[in-house]
This record gives sequence, structure tokens and C-alpha cells, in this order.
Amino acid sequence: MRNFKKIGVLTSGGDAPGMNAAIRAVTRYAISHDVQVVGIYEGYKGLMEGQMRIFTDRDVSNIINRGGTILYSARSKEFVTEEGLQKAIQTCRDNGIDGLIAIGGDGTFRGATDLTARGLPCIGIPGTIDNDITATEYTIGYDTALNTTIEMVDRLRDTCESHARCNVVEVMGRNAGYIPLYAGLAVGASAILIPEIQFDEQQIIKKLIASKEYGKRNFIIMISEGIENYGEGLARRIEETTHIESRFARLAHVVRGGDPSLRDRVIASQMGVEAVRLLLAGKSNRVVCVRSDKIVDIDIAYALTLDRMYKGKLKPEELNGYSEKEIRDMRDYCAKKRTEMEALYKMNLDISK
Ligand code: F6P
Repeated sequence: MRNFKKIGVLTSGGDAPGMNAAIRAVTRYAISHDVQVVGIYEGYKGLMEGQMRIFTDRDVSNIINRGGTILYSARSKEFVTEEGLQKAIQTCRDNGIDGLIAIGGDGTFRGATDLTARGLPCIGIPGTIDNDITATEYTIGYDTALNTTIEMVDRLRDTCESHARCNVVEVMGRNAGYIPLYAGLAVGASAILIPEIQFDEQQIIKKLIASKEYGKRNFIIMISEGIENYGEGLARRIEETTHIESRFARLAHVVRGGDPSLRDRVIASQMGVEAVRLLLAGKSNRVVCVRSDKIVDIDIAYALTLDRMYKGKLKPEELNGYSEKEIRDMRDYCAKKRTEMEALYKMNLDISK
């Protein structure tokens, strides 16, 4: 057990529905354990600049149901420099902040690990609609983003059906295809294009023609924003080759807003409580994760290495210091994740007609 007096909480990177539920849980759970909570505004930028105030239980009332983040968010270039990190550490010293909970994506965790290395115990909570933090099966905001996506696409489908059209729908997720894949499956997309899996445009066209002959009137193609500058041209080529009138829609930030779903509210609350528990138990440099539907914690440096391995960005020397078993486990975990994604992709090919 460590004796914390005052901890900070911040949100950084792209906002995600459910972040407020996590802020609320962190605040209420810490206060109930006699620890003061400081809400830090605009992520690490605000930490460097000292934009913060002490939260009471009531400051986090009526936010569990609100999208966005009441703490606001920012991406800061200065923070990643040594000078920026020292500024942040100094702010914490000046304000008596002895621990930090950082909610965000991989950039947020790199910041948390850098601060931990400079003496400030940090815990990360994964919050991003992209669900692209490899170490966890779930990130806050993902479920809401999926639900918003399918609602939007269902609407597009109505008008596609009326006009016998195809709609190519581009969705966010950066280079991760989780949103287009899962939403695509849920809307019965004729095709799903994601960066992780190779696709054959000619096969897609053939399938659309066959479906049209079979009597199908509406066609939805989901495409990840990670396949850059492709969707608009694809819609044009589909129209030219299949003579199905086609439109392109980019949902963009619209799926990042809105009230969080039940799943996001519940998991964010669980993660918020767990993050405080970890800090109070004297742990630091951990990220709260979901594994096999359970809340667990994983070393942030390990999580970042695993993430880089999964994304094919790892340099061999980054594995120095890990045991053979750890490396094998990392490789197996990444392979399992890829296999699960491929299986879903294949399943959609089999059942979309
Ligand atoms: O990481 C969340 C995310 O919404 C990605 O899906 C997207 O690529 C990116 O952020 C957009 O960033 P910005 O809000 O800076 O435009």
C-alpha cells in the first residue's frame, strides 16, 4: 500500500465516449479512499501548463452519460521532449500530485511511462474508439463508435434500397480495421476493406454484379480510413463497371461523439476504479486491460512493445530484456489476434450475398 494524498487524472489524444464515466469512477473511488483528485485539463499540455482544479464528488455528477471528455483533450508535441516532461513533473511537485491516471491511446501510455521513469507513478486506461491497443481486447469508446456507425449505415442502407444504390462508407480507426470490420459484419456489408487484410477489387466487383443479378438492391461497402484515398475512387469504379449507382460517405468524427453505450459506461467505470486501486496498491506503469472479459493490468512498456510487434513496427533490439517465453507469448498473442480478425473477415465473405 502506498500513501497517496492527491492524484491527477487527464484525458489525452482523440476523445472517446465513456471517458467521462472513467473520470467519474476515478474521482469517486479515490475520494472514498481519502485521496484528493485533481482534474487536469487538455491532457499533457494542460499538465505542463498547470491547467487543473480539485474535483469533488459533485464535480463529476451527471457525466456518466455524456460523450466527449469534461477534461478536454489535446495532442502535445512539446510534452514528448525532455523539457516538456520536466515541466509536467514540476507542475506535479508544485501541486502535490503524487500519482497520475492517464486515459487515452498508445501516445498517452508513452507519456505515462516517461513520467513514471521520472518519478511520478502513472496508470493508463485505454480510451480510443479505434480499439487498437494490442494488449487489451477493449478500449473505452469502441462500442459506442460501433453502435453509432451501424446506426448511420442502416440509414444509408434505407436510401440505397430505395434507389438501388451502392454506398462506400469510410470510417475512422486509423490503421486498425476493427470499426469497419465489426460494423461491416453488423450491417451485412457486401465487402469490407481494411489495412490488415489484402483484398481483390475485381472480386468485389464480381460479387456486386452477381448479387445484383440475384435481385439485391442495396450494397454497402465498409472501408477503413487507413486505406487512404481509395474509397471515393472505388465508388466511381463500382458505378462504371457494375452500373450500380454509387455514392461515397465519410463518417469521420461523427462516430467519436455521442452518449456512451452501456458497455462503455460499465467498462470505463470498472477501469477507472481499477486504476485507482492499482495506484493505491503501490503499482505504477501499468495499463488497465480487458482480457477474456476480465479486468487485468499489464506493464505499460510490455504493452507498448506488444503493440509495436502486432503493428509490425518493432525493432529487434526492443525485445532485449524479455525472456524467450515472454517473446513467444507475445508472438502467440499477436498471431491469435490476427487469426481472430481473419476468421471474422472470412465469415463475412461467406454470409454476405
Ligand atoms: O484515434 C482516434 C481517431 O479518431 C482516429 O480514428 C483518427 O484517425 C484520428 O483520431 C483523427 O484525429 P483528429 O481528431 O486529430 O482528426
